[in-house]
Amino acid sequence: MAKKIAAGNWKMNGLMGDLPQIDAIAAAVPTGITALICPPALLVAPAAARTAGTALRIGGQTCHSAAKGAHTGEISANMLRDAGADAVILGHSERRQDQGETDADIAAKISAAQSAGLQAIFCVGESEATRDAGHALAHVADQITAALNANCDAQQLMVAYEPIWAIGTGKTATPVQISEMHAHIRATLAGIFGDTAQDIPLLYGGSVNATNAAEIFACPNVDGALVGGASLTADNFIPIMQALAAA
Ligand code: 13P
Repeated sequence: MAKKIAAGNWKMNGLMGDLPQIDAIAAAVPTGITALICPPALLVAPAAARTAGTALRIGGQTCHSAAKGAHTGEISANMLRDAGADAVILGHSERRQDQGETDADIAAKISAAQSAGLQAIFCVGESEATRDAGHALAHVADQITAALNANCDAQQLMVAYEPIWAIGTGKTATPVQISEMHAHIRATLAGIFGDTAQDIPLLYGGSVNATNAAEIFACPNVDGALVGGASLTADNFIPIMQALAAA
């Protein structure tokens, strides 16, 4: 897997009729990057089947921490893997808020995902109030140290910094804010994993689009993006992949 990662999070968007968008993205993945789309769970299997043999990887948006069992409505990491997923987003702020996911839940999910052979895309990020209070760096470091430890497989890990105030708002963090936070994340990871931390892809997420992508990818310690709204169509996502390949 190339360290440069263009990942799309479709969230709760997308029907069977939208699978041709995934076909078009798969047909346009530039060399030198890893491209990944995480559609809703019900589209993982058809998306993986349609993109088999292409450079596009498919991922899930969450998984349960248990391998199997009496958990009505839940999806295990093994099920995602079995459906053709290579990765899973974990700890997204929307799930922390809507489903009350705790750091301990996320730690257990990361372990389950990696045991199943999935790359864990671990999301962190502060609220606007936390940033305004001057606690953004400490908050994100706390999220990392609460969910990761030296037993995690650094080879199967990416960290996505998604400031909550930048998600779906059209507001992006500035290059200065992104560079400061990504350096801090890298240093925090080095405290856990040592030199291996250099190899962990760090993604920025929050209103990334074709217009701002190049500026974001030019920031030190930014290895790619986790894109929401602009990943839903090939027309919007392809230029982001191209900007990453050119960075
Ligand atoms: P937007 O790109 O729509 O702001 O979403 C970012 C995000 O939450 C990706 O996980």
